[in-house]
Amino acid sequence: MSDITQHGALMDDVYRYQRLIYDVTRKYYLLGRDHLIEQMDVAPGETVLEVACGTGRNLAKIKQLYPEAKLYGLDISEQMLATARKKLGASVPLAQADACNLDAESLFGLSEFDHVVLSYSLSMIPDWKSALSEAHCLLGPGGRLHIADFGDQSGLPKLFRSALCTWLGKFHVAPREVLPQFLAEKFDGAAIRRLYRGYAYHAVITRRA
Ligand SMILES: C[S@@+](CC[C@H](N)C(=O)[O-])C[C@H]1O[C@@H](n2cnc3c(N)ncnc32)[C@H](O)[C@@H]1O
Repeated sequence: MSDITQHGALMDDVYRYQRLIYDVTRKYYLLGRDHLIEQMDVAPGETVLEVACGTGRNLAKIKQLYPEAKLYGLDISEQMLATARKKLGASVPLAQADACNLDAESLFGLSEFDHVVLSYSLSMIPDWKSALSEAHCLLGPGGRLHIADFGDQSGLPKLFRSALCTWLGKFHVAPREVLPQFLAEKFDGAAIRRLYRGYAYHAVITRRA
């Protein structure tokens, strides 16, 4: 089995049953997702791709807030996509793909997007640097990459931090503590904000026009 198929199979295993309670349970600990969506400021007709869209929870909220946006989603897990398809219907094209090796043109007939979203996915993608660079390549001139994920938890009690990491490990989630620094060094003008005493962060990277 290739690494990609293996990772897809692992994600299917993690989410086969979890997807049924995902939206209800994750709302308590995937914090900052609504903040990200509110800050997106999507203009009518603009395109939005969520990479690793999971159950489609964010795309559904984006659709509510920006009803004239054109939405797209992809995920490596067919299990997650089954839930997303049910939720979003045929008006949102969804595809199975690996965030680290994307060909958006063949998936969606589009090679550039006005907005790309990576929400709590880099912490679940082993080669997160490739996923980040692929997502950035999908931005058209002036396009924006919106990221939300776990922070370094530095403002929170040590006991909470270690309990959280143990819990997340059960789901193959590994917070990327170096990510904010990596973004700041790699992308000029990256806007990075710590949320909830370091529990999460929100970053926006704009591709130069
Ligand atoms: C914690 S969920 C986040 C889902 C959604 N973005 C959200 O904010 O609710 C992580 C998602 O990343 C997906 N994923 C993990 N590795 C991936 C990869 N290499 N390519 C695409 N999706 C991936 C998983 O299948 C899962 O749906």
